[in-house]
Amino acid sequence: MLFRRTLTTLFALAAAAAQAQGTWPTKPITLVVPFAAGGPTDVVARTLGASMSKTLGQTVVVENKLGAGGTVAANYVAKAAPDGYTFFIHHNGMATSPALYRKLSFDPMNDFEFVSQAVEVPMTLLARKDFPASNMQELTAYLKANKDKVNLATAGLGAVSQLCGMMFQRAIGVNLTEVPFQGTAPAMNALLGGQVDLLCDQTTQTIPQIKAGNVKFYGVTTRNRIKVLPAAPTLHEQGLKDFEVVVWHGIYAPKGTPKPIVDRMNAAVRTALKDPDVVKRMDDLGAEIVPDSKMSSDALRVWLKAEIDRWGPVIRASGKFAD
Ligand code: MLT
Repeated sequence: MLFRRTLTTLFALAAAAAQAQGTWPTKPITLVVPFAAGGPTDVVARTLGASMSKTLGQTVVVENKLGAGGTVAANYVAKAAPDGYTFFIHHNGMATSPALYRKLSFDPMNDFEFVSQAVEVPMTLLARKDFPASNMQELTAYLKANKDKVNLATAGLGAVSQLCGMMFQRAIGVNLTEVPFQGTAPAMNALLGGQVDLLCDQTTQTIPQIKAGNVKFYGVTTRNRIKVLPAAPTLHEQGLKDFEVVVWHGIYAPKGTPKPIVDRMNAAVRTALKDPDVVKRMDDLGAEIVPDSKMSSDALRVWLKAEIDRWGPVIRASGKFAD
């Protein structure tokens, strides 16, 4: 009797879920961003979200959940209801956090459904406008002589600004004071205001400041020069051999989100990534839309695992951890 009742309840739940998936979405969808509004991740989220809203027929609302280098937001989404109304956009931090945090309250590989990769973004190494070094050679010499006086703004452990800054310090053999912010939007404000010295940040935020001459700019972190700043040298070609940091953004859902919903979200992301307005905005900001081969759930899962394996040893060698 009990068995029959349980079975009936299960069938009823499955039928309700199937019906919900058929009509999904019936209300606004939240896309959680792990860093401050106005910053690089937020720019990508809002650009994609506006386009996806048209495809899905419901508004995609961006919610900025700040803290601990993106891990507060990741933990929030990992524990959110898997009902198709909460999604997450995050970058390399999804792969670096397991090595950076001794106690991580979420599991990047097992607590999420994988929707799609989205864009890849170069980074740029900057200083405040009146910083006493005009090129990479002067910068390296100055930092070696004044390492105790110079600070580096980051968005915390788990942020790509911290990862890039950490790789740069290692490459030139200095250890600077790191000043954490809740995103590189406030870090950039501090750089423009002269309250911090250095920042490594994504082109999606830095291009307007570089073009306006509001910051000192030393080079890009990609292996090759980039289309949007063709005259800018790479750090690699300026003597930091093999230096390369490229930011990749992926979209996730809480584990258990029904596959038909993940698939429809994937289709909406793909449509957004081909929307001429999105393509133009990303192009202007130096971001590259990923190729079709990276726009699948499986491709994101495989990529994330490879990135966890890639960054783990680099981070452990850096000796930077959070408890
Ligand atoms: C942001 O959106 O503020 C950045 O992606 C933070 C970071 O440096 O990772």
